[in-house]
Amino acid sequence: THVVTEACIRCKYTDCVDVCPVDCFREGPNFLTIDPDECIDCAVCIPECPVSAIFAEEDLPKDQVHMTELNAELAKLPNWKSITKRKDPLPDHEEWKDRTGKLSELAR
Ligand code: F3S
Repeated sequence: THVVTEACIRCKYTDCVDVCPVDCFREGPNFLTIDPDECIDCAVCIPECPVSAIFAEEDLPKDQVHMTELNAELAKLPNWKSITKRKDPLPDHEEWKDRTGKLSELAR
């Protein structure tokens, strides 16, 4: 599967969803996740993300390996719905886009 990492938190640019051929992105309040049961590993979303938040599972930076399990868990939450069309990023995206260690900011 492909995995959305912490860089997405509080930014949510959504450029990724426009190109997904299988509509596997799910939207939470301040993060998108990939449903691993639907992702076909096509990789077209990777270059679309302005903050390089998306990785193939096997290419994840060591400090983001925990996001594989979290993507799978969040994808199954009933309030996380499919998102297939790009929309505006979150209002504070500029402030958050270069920050790391944003996991505590993740809203469900
Ligand atoms: Fe998130 Fe990047 Fe998509 S910030 S919403 S993974 S374009």
